Amino acid sequence: MKVVTTLDDLRHARAGLLGPVGLVPTMGYLHEGHLSLATRARAECASVAASIFVNPSQFGPSEDLSSYPRDLPRDLAMLKEAGVDLVWTPTPEIVYPADFQSWITVEEVARTLEGAHRPGHFRGVATMVAKLFNVFQPDRAYFGQKDAQQAAVIRQMARDLNFPVEVVICPTVREPDGLAMSSRNAYLHGEQRPAATVLFRALSTAAAVYAAGERDAEALRQLMAEVIDSEPLARRQYVSVADPISLHELQGPIQRALLSMAVHIGTTRLIDNLILGDI
Ligand code: PAF
Repeated sequence: MKVVTTLDDLRHARAGLLGPVGLVPTMGYLHEGHLSLATRARAECASVAASIFVNPSQFGPSEDLSSYPRDLPRDLAMLKEAGVDLVWTPTPEIVYPADFQSWITVEEVARTLEGAHRPGHFRGVATMVAKLFNVFQPDRAYFGQKDAQQAAVIRQMARDLNFPVEVVICPTVREPDGLAMSSRNAYLHGEQRPAATVLFRALSTAAAVYAAGERDAEALRQLMAEVIDSEPLARRQYVSVADPISLHELQGPIQRALLSMAVHIGTTRLIDNLILGDI
């Protein structure tokens, strides 16, 4: 596995990769969710590339950029074990030189849900992913369904800007008790860890009543809110029952929906989602 930092070294190493090339973009502190992306890429592509970069532009001023967990040696060992061929670990100065001034704003699909609560977040994500698409020129790029809106934003951007890349969305990987894997789970301590299963419990409860015939969007939102509010350590930021493609909030009877939520457990902000019905 080749590990490079500079753009020149990356371009040189990329030129030597056999296609199709699969890209796994990450912010490091890897877990089974990231590895599932690398494993899928390994199975579908002749070469697999990855990036590790905690992207400052997708963090708000009061968010956890400085405390975001990092462990580069462990990450590199995991990627090597997963059969990755090339890893880019740039510095912030390489990605955002002092005179950087070009940003990508995806509009409607980035406005709701996470976009409404994290202003500027998807501008940072879209710009970073566009840069990764430009420098790696991947045939396929792999992202997790856990970040459902991110997946929708990246799909939209790739389509709108004609990036010749297939955006592949892989299922959320969960701990045995249902907690969605996330690098931010490392922030959970003591009784916060079992409390964090409340997100999956709320989604599963809504999915069960949907399976039993409930179709009213507001009833499903209400139910998820009640489950979250029953957990003393949880503070609900939003629960949503939205169209899985447009991400517009749904009212009245639904056929298919993206259930999603953001919940604080202590100071840790967690998100999770589930799709109901066929899309
Ligand atoms: O999902 C992430 O880890 C990040 O948002 C991404 C896609 C690597 C862009 O910085």
